[in-house]
Amino acid sequence: MRTITVFKGDGIGPEITDAVLKILDAAKAPLEYEIFRVGAAEYEENGALIPDAAFASFEKNKILLKSPITTPIGKGFRSLNVTLREKYDLYANIRPAKSNSAVATPFPNVDIVTFRENTEDLYVGVEEQVDQDTVHATKIITRKASARIITDAFQYARAQGRKKVTCVHKANILKQSDGLFLSIFKEIGADYPDIEAEDKIVDNVCMQLVMRPQQFDIMVMPNLYGDIVSDLTSGLIGGLGLLPSSNLGKDYAMFEAVHGSAPDIAGKNIANPTALLWSGCMMLEHMGELDIAGKIRRAVDEVLEEGSCTTPDIGGKATTTEYCEAIMARL
Ligand code: NAI
Repeated sequence: MRTITVFKGDGIGPEITDAVLKILDAAKAPLEYEIFRVGAAEYEENGALIPDAAFASFEKNKILLKSPITTPIGKGFRSLNVTLREKYDLYANIRPAKSNSAVATPFPNVDIVTFRENTEDLYVGVEEQVDQDTVHATKIITRKASARIITDAFQYARAQGRKKVTCVHKANILKQSDGLFLSIFKEIGADYPDIEAEDKIVDNVCMQLVMRPQQFDIMVMPNLYGDIVSDLTSGLIGGLGLLPSSNLGKDYAMFEAVHGSAPDIAGKNIANPTALLWSGCMMLEHMGELDIAGKIRRAVDEVLEEGSCTTPDIGGKATTTEYCEAIMARL
């Protein structure tokens, strides 16, 4: 048995977390949970978005399954997600977007894994009000952070038998910052002659992704482009309800759905828990529990394929509860 930390967030967070933990238990995942409420509700009651005990639990267990948190827009709040990624140096944000033949989209056979640098770029959150009508935001790109995410992308490509890594950038305009990222990509790419290394400008990538997404394999990019482009890839495969992610560092690992707290559908029992469930599968794979992850993935595929019990975001009529029960029945 391994103890992991679980954060139940805001909006649909608690519903999808409960659903996913039930499925993990039904699959006999060898896990025990330390579960914490984090986010807006916790803040309102106890004055902290993440209680100290929740941080301490993650620091002890090193593995976190996290559901989405509402980030108030505007002054006074740093995104909790950005805080977690920085505090625990979770530098590699890996977001696999793979078509499922059972989910109808205009884009068949998409299989793209985005490697997003997770700790710097504009997300360092350094903004300065120069005068009443002018704000400066700081974009940071360093050799250290760029080299490790780019190396991870190439190593993953090699380990998974993938063919190509695309560096996504805007070095034609941001000649120094993205220029550094691109030059490091070219240096590291030269060490992987078995993998094709190409680079493309981010606006072109967005256009190509909706014209011919099948040309992309592994993509690596700085933080902001990774955030935006990976949401685009979720649209290619049927929406945010289907895009899982891992956030990996040297010592800690956090697994979460890419989507947010979806306040528009919270409490209605219609949220799609698949993205968080597949994040749970990535977590099990990270822990070496390949058989159990495989079993869950097969059960989900069967339910999607069969088609009568899927959630409204992918065209079905089932509730979250009914969808989960269908998965558990197959386990
Ligand atoms: P969102 O991802 O919560 O929702 C966008 C749209 O996708 C909504 O129509 C929503 O209903 C739908 N959707 C998302 N997940 C779904 C699911 N599992 N099943 C069915 N439909 C789903 O993005 P939005 O509305 O921009 O953000 C809401 C809040 O979430 C904000 O406070 C934002 O800061 C926060 N957020 C948190 C993240 C995290 O904790 N990792 C990531 C992204 C946003």
